[in-house]
Amino acid sequence: MATVLITGGTGLIGRALTKALLEKGYEVIILTRSPAKSTTHTSRLSYAAWDLTAQMVDAAAIIKADHIIHLAGAGVADQRWTKKRKQEIVESRVKSGELLVKTLKETANKVQSVISSSAIGWYGPNDKEQNRGFTEDASPAPDFLGQTCKQWEASIEPVTQLGKRLVKLRTGIVLSKDGGALKEFLKPLHYGIASILGTGRQMISWIHIDDMVRLYITAIEKETMSGVYNAVAPSPVTNKQLIMALARKKRGRFFIPVYVPSFLLKIMLGEMSVEVLKSTTVSCEKLSKDGFVFQYPTITAAVNDIK
Ligand SMILES: NC(=O)c1ccc[n+]([C@@H]2O[C@H](COP(=O)([O-])OP(=O)(O)OC[C@H]3O[C@@H](n4cnc5c(N)ncnc54)[C@H](OP(=O)(O)O)[C@@H]3O)[C@@H](O)[C@H]2O)c1
Repeated sequence: MATVLITGGTGLIGRALTKALLEKGYEVIILTRSPAKSTTHTSRLSYAAWDLTAQMVDAAAIIKADHIIHLAGAGVADQRWTKKRKQEIVESRVKSGELLVKTLKETANKVQSVISSSAIGWYGPNDKEQNRGFTEDASPAPDFLGQTCKQWEASIEPVTQLGKRLVKLRTGIVLSKDGGALKEFLKPLHYGIASILGTGRQMISWIHIDDMVRLYITAIEKETMSGVYNAVAPSPVTNKQLIMALARKKRGRFFIPVYVPSFLLKIMLGEMSVEVLKSTTVSCEKLSKDGFVFQYPTITAAVNDIK
């Protein structure tokens, strides 16, 4: 069975993807900054090191790989967007992409495809024409995330000149009970509070973790896939719809909806508040036309899966 190298495979998506790939019989190598921390080695799961500052990567791992899944990057919503953090968000993606390209160029290898994460941050806020959802041909937004995604995608693009098939997945908010945005949305519900952000009317384009994982595996296995795809479920919801669905699932009728005003979010989150208050409706039409069937197409289906 083929070997899949996953950069940033220790994260939320990477952990779920590794489990699914191992279940399907693949060999997995996780490329990480801290291989020493990883204890779950098996005959089909191993870890290899890289260091973006030193532009060093364990070339033996690249030599073994048939496919590369590129997930590495400093968490966009993990910390306040200081100048230093913004630089880390960009550099962790761009330098890692460049290092992969350089290594693939300089090392004899059998890598067939590179599947890279990108994000719907590529698109700016909705305008009147976007009510049917942004499609992949839209230009990147001029804001921080739009320009980050543009540089991120550009850094990995040269693999196509090396004869590798490249798929870029512009990913929406990944809903997983194991972490990410959902964990943050659920915190106030422990105290019976359904915390609706701003007006709650902003659109969220999301995808269930299981569909995300199936999509990465599809992108490896389906050789006709190439280029950019929006990785979002077919039914975006408003922030209020999402929070209320979670509240009903977790608390039945026993919760109090509370609107967190925009000005408070701006004080709490700084510039990052723009992202939680922004409406972005993204279309999955290209993926659906390509035959991908979502296991969790609606927010009800996704929330029902969250125990
Ligand atoms: N989860 C979402 O809702 C979502 C939405 C849109 C796009 N995405 C993108 O999808 C990718 C995977 O998402 P995820 O949720 O699995 O992310 P995650 O849990 O934050 O994991 C990302 C991994 O990247 C590595 N990393 C972190 N900081 C780094 C740095 N400064 N330099 C190099 N590597 C670094 C880490 O691996 P090591 O510590 O082992 O090196 C980490 O485990 C990310 O690029 C993310 O931006 C995610």
